[in-house]
Amino acid sequence: MINPNESAFDESLITSLFPGEVVTRALVRDVELPYGAGTMALITLDNGRDHTRPNTFGPASLISLREALDAVAARQDIAAVGVTGKPFIFSVGADLSGAGVLASRDQALAIGRLGHAVFRRLGELSVPSFAFVNGAALGGGLELALHCSYRTVSSGVTAAGLPETFLGIVPGWGGTYLLPQLIGPAGALKVIVENPLSQNRMLRGPEVLILGIADVMFEPADFLAESLRWAARVLTGAAGVPRVRPPGGWSAENWGQAVATARLSADGKLHGAAPAPYQAIDLVAAARGRTRDEGFAAEDDALADLILSEEFRAGLYAFDLTQKRARHAAGAPDASLARPVTKVGVVGAGLMAAQIALLFARRLEVPVVLTDLDQARLDAGLGHVRAEVARLRDRGRISADAAARLTALVTGSLTKDAFADADLVIEAVFEEIAVKQQVFAEVEAVVRPDCVLATNTSSLSVTEMASGLAHPSRVVGFHFFNPVAMMPLVEVVRAARTDDATLATALAVGQGLKKSCVLVKDAPAFVVNRLLTRFLGEIIGCVDEGTPFEVAEHAPDPLGLPMSPFFLLQLVGPAVALHVTETLAAAYPDRFAVSPKLRALVTAGKTAVYRPDFTVDESVAAILAGGDRPSTAGEVRERALEALAEEIRLMLDEGVVAAPEDIDLCMILGAGWPFHLGGITPYLDRTGITEKVTSTRFRA
Ligand SMILES: NC(=O)c1ccc[n+]([C@@H]2O[C@H](COP(=O)([O-])OP(=O)(O)OC[C@H]3O[C@@H](n4cnc5c(N)ncnc54)[C@H](O)[C@@H]3O)[C@@H](O)[C@H]2O)c1
Repeated sequence: MINPNESAFDESLITSLFPGEVVTRALVRDVELPYGAGTMALITLDNGRDHTRPNTFGPASLISLREALDAVAARQDIAAVGVTGKPFIFSVGADLSGAGVLASRDQALAIGRLGHAVFRRLGELSVPSFAFVNGAALGGGLELALHCSYRTVSSGVTAAGLPETFLGIVPGWGGTYLLPQLIGPAGALKVIVENPLSQNRMLRGPEVLILGIADVMFEPADFLAESLRWAARVLTGAAGVPRVRPPGGWSAENWGQAVATARLSADGKLHGAAPAPYQAIDLVAAARGRTRDEGFAAEDDALADLILSEEFRAGLYAFDLTQKRARHAAGAPDASLARPVTKVGVVGAGLMAAQIALLFARRLEVPVVLTDLDQARLDAGLGHVRAEVARLRDRGRISADAAARLTALVTGSLTKDAFADADLVIEAVFEEIAVKQQVFAEVEAVVRPDCVLATNTSSLSVTEMASGLAHPSRVVGFHFFNPVAMMPLVEVVRAARTDDATLATALAVGQGLKKSCVLVKDAPAFVVNRLLTRFLGEIIGCVDEGTPFEVAEHAPDPLGLPMSPFFLLQLVGPAVALHVTETLAAAYPDRFAVSPKLRALVTAGKTAVYRPDFTVDESVAAILAGGDRPSTAGEVRERALEALAEEIRLMLDEGVVAAPEDIDLCMILGAGWPFHLGGITPYLDRTGITEKVTSTRFRA
């Protein structure tokens, strides 16, 4: 069996590949431990930048750590070795900016082996090693900690985990072997597969402790001092370190069950669409019977295969979009044109308005006034805000003081005079152009000439909405997605006459709200709703023609989308979906048609497709039945994807967004489309669908 320590690999294969690596240095200093426990060689990982550029590991960083470990391993005078990070960051793992340039299997193998060879020394020193996880610990960062003999974690940690499978690879520096050995297969699979597949969920400090990844947790304020004290007590035998691992290890049965559950759950979400989660499960499955050398060698192999996969390329591309393009909208005007926003008005106190009001108050910390047609609706909206604030407080997400402040910031008024001194008013009233025009006219009559008027419309023309106003240049689309607090995207719509100052203000507000803004042209249903409606429309169209519901429902399964098309329909609501389809069918009658069966669902008052137990409601099934031209699942999928490629091409030709990257970003952030598809255009390109439909590719 290969021992990664001994197996030959040529370091020069990779050291020259990462020319721009921001090197994380491993700085060693001696710390005298209390209780006479001796000297600890404390290694601090620090790349010399602030917390916005976290510590990562490329080849030079790994070599810096190796040199530090060489130095401490040679010493006879130390009782222990410790590793900690810089403020807010332990380490966020491999340097992904370099991963994209790995072009051969040998290079990929070399980076895996170098990481293993360096990290494993922490667990193989002649003295105990301690990881003091003071901040973000992701991927290789957490794996480094797993190699140590003991771990402490700060209660202030907000991001710990092994997100590799989310990106299209596996934890390849020890994670799939060490974590199940430490905390058991069920906990390990939760961290390695389940969380990444749940919109890349991260662990907070307390969960790191509860799962057994850390042995003990301390407050951030005196984290290092407490960690050192605890380490001293462990070394002197004063503190015991209970572990969740049963004395004889986990039973084969327990291990097998956890693995089977993880496979079932991954299949339910992915249907085989991406290889990485399955490979990670296989590695964990085999970890029980493997030696450390075997486990690490298997990780090297899996990682080398996956690093060269299309899914990982797509994952890296998507990661880059969400890290960079999502922060600076392409085509944005000069940010210095933005006007300050110190008071906000919200028209409508319904489902979206109440959520929007709370978000503005919470993130901008400015007064927000809601209005609606009558006191009962206004009270309901304010009630929703208060209930949500109480929920945040009760779950410890905000302090009691902050809750009181937030509640006081959001007030209600039945008349729009309350907007007189607002800097921005956003409407979220019924999706009807006449109602919205009327609302804007009423608002314009009371606000200052420079007050921005924003609309949360999902599909209507912002230009038309502004057409009757004295100052149409101050109108902008600001399209949130439901649920507002969770969905990271806002489509910011430049209407025909929107001026740069208005747009800059909207984008600055979006940033203040911690949302990612994509700038879009004023075109029916903008990006996400237009593409989802086209995709869904083709699938429902197949059902109209006679494709059985069950066939259509599962047709997109091989893509690994976050939900089935009919679950999406239920989430959006059949009536809303119908309304958006009508808008799009009016604008583009050659490509969008109102499905007779969808209309029948709405006419019958159906608001859901599935019953609470996820079986299909029989009366819904009856409405969806009928037709004599059934398609196969493959045909349904092909048709829906080809339609998507066509729609994206048209959208780009119309200039709805600046580039295909914006389409991908919108689908990732606004529809939760997975990284392994790269949003969508990389998938359409690599499967040849783009070329078939449009004779070109989206990206070179
Ligand atoms: N529901 C969603 O998922 C979603 C997502 C994104 C955008 N939107 C858009 O947001 C807007 C609101 O949608 P919603 O789902 O919150 O609707 P809703 O029916 O829950 O709320 C609309 C509210 O507006 C009030 N209203 C109507 N006319 C008014 C007027 N003249 N003055 C003051 N208040 C008035 C109504 O009384 C109601 O309380 C729509 O444009 C919709 O397309 C909805």
